[in-house]
Amino acid sequence: MANRKYIVGNWKMNGLRAQLSDIADIAELAESHKDVDVAICPPVTLIAQATDKAPGFMIGAQDCHFANNGAHTGCLSAEMIGEAGAKLTILGHSERRTDQHETDAEVKAKAQAAHAAGLGAIICVGETEQERDAGKAIDVVCGQLEGSFPDNADAAWLTIAYEPVWAIGTGRVPEVSDVEEMHAAIRTKLTELMGKGAGAVRILYGGSMNGANAAQLLAVSNVDGGLVGGASLTAEKFGPIIKAAAEA
Ligand code: PGA
Repeated sequence: MANRKYIVGNWKMNGLRAQLSDIADIAELAESHKDVDVAICPPVTLIAQATDKAPGFMIGAQDCHFANNGAHTGCLSAEMIGEAGAKLTILGHSERRTDQHETDAEVKAKAQAAHAAGLGAIICVGETEQERDAGKAIDVVCGQLEGSFPDNADAAWLTIAYEPVWAIGTGRVPEVSDVEEMHAAIRTKLTELMGKGAGAVRILYGGSMNGANAAQLLAVSNVDGGLVGGASLTAEKFGPIIKAAAEA
C-alpha cells in the first residue's frame, strides 16, 4: 500500500509576522486536501503565532539542539520548540550541514532528542554535484543515512528527505530515473537499518520542487512527498504542489 503523501514547506530564514496570513491561507488549502499531510516549518519566531493563527494545522521547526537544556547560547531544545507548538522538526538540512558544520552523529542525537520530546523528525540527506559527477551519490547518501539514523526509529515519527544539494534553490531537478534510483536505494538502506517497518517510513524528495514539476516527481516510486523551500512561501505557489500530492 502506498504511504500517505507528506508535503512540508521549509521557510528557511524567511517570514515575519506579516507572512502569518500566508500560513493561514496554506492551512486552509490543506484543510481541503485531507488525504495529504501538510506542514509548514517557519522560523522559530513564528511557531507560536502560527499555531494560534491556524489551529490544528501542522507547524514545524527547522532544527533543534540535541541537549534538553544547558549552556548552549542561542540554541533551542526540542522541548522548547514543542512547547511553542511545533509538531515536528527538520534536521540535518544541507544548509546546516554546510553552514553550521553539523555532523551525522549530531543529526542522529538531534533526532533522538526530537523523538523524546514527542516531535516528528525529518532527516535530510543529499549529495553535492561533485559527488554525483564522481558516481558516488548513492554511497554518500546511504552513508549519511546510516550515520544520522536514530535508535528506535519508527515510521510514526521518522521521515527522510532526499535533497540533492545541487538542486536546492537552483531550479535544477534530477532526472526522474535518478530520483527513482536514489529513493529505491534509501528504501533498501532503511530496510537494512530497521527491518520490516522500513516500508512505512516516508521518503520525501526536495530540491526545486514546484507546481510545474511536482506531479511528475510525486509519481515516482518511493517518493512519498516533498520538502519544499521557495515554492512553499505562498498559498499560490504551494497550492498546486498539495493538489499534485492529492492526485498522485
Ligand atoms: P527549494 O529548497 O525548494 O527552494 O529548492 C528545498 C529545501 O532546501 O528544503
